[in-house]
Amino acid sequence: MIIYVTDRDGTEHELEAVEGWRVMEIIREHGLPVKAECGGCCLCATCHVYVDPAWVDRLPPMRDEENVQLDEAVGLEDNSRLSCQLIMSEELDGLRVTLAPGTEV
Ligand code: FES
Repeated sequence: MIIYVTDRDGTEHELEAVEGWRVMEIIREHGLPVKAECGGCCLCATCHVYVDPAWVDRLPPMRDEENVQLDEAVGLEDNSRLSCQLIMSEELDGLRVTLAPGTEV
């Protein structure tokens, strides 16, 4: 499985993804800078990503916790999600996201 992640400099990276891992963990594991201050507990919004429009409707719906936390995110957009709340699965193979402002380490 693969995901595509565009960093804050605008460079797209193709990352090997592991089923069951959080997208945030995959980004981090590959050495891309993502602050993810709370370590995936849905408490910080510093793992904020913009989801490629083609993928927005293919993702599992947000839980209330994610929705509330996203309200605190810098640069909130309609396609904003918290990457720690996206769990890798076959359905997400090929997912494209862009790191949002506020994720810089
Ligand atoms: S890592 Fe903190 S909300 Fe995702």
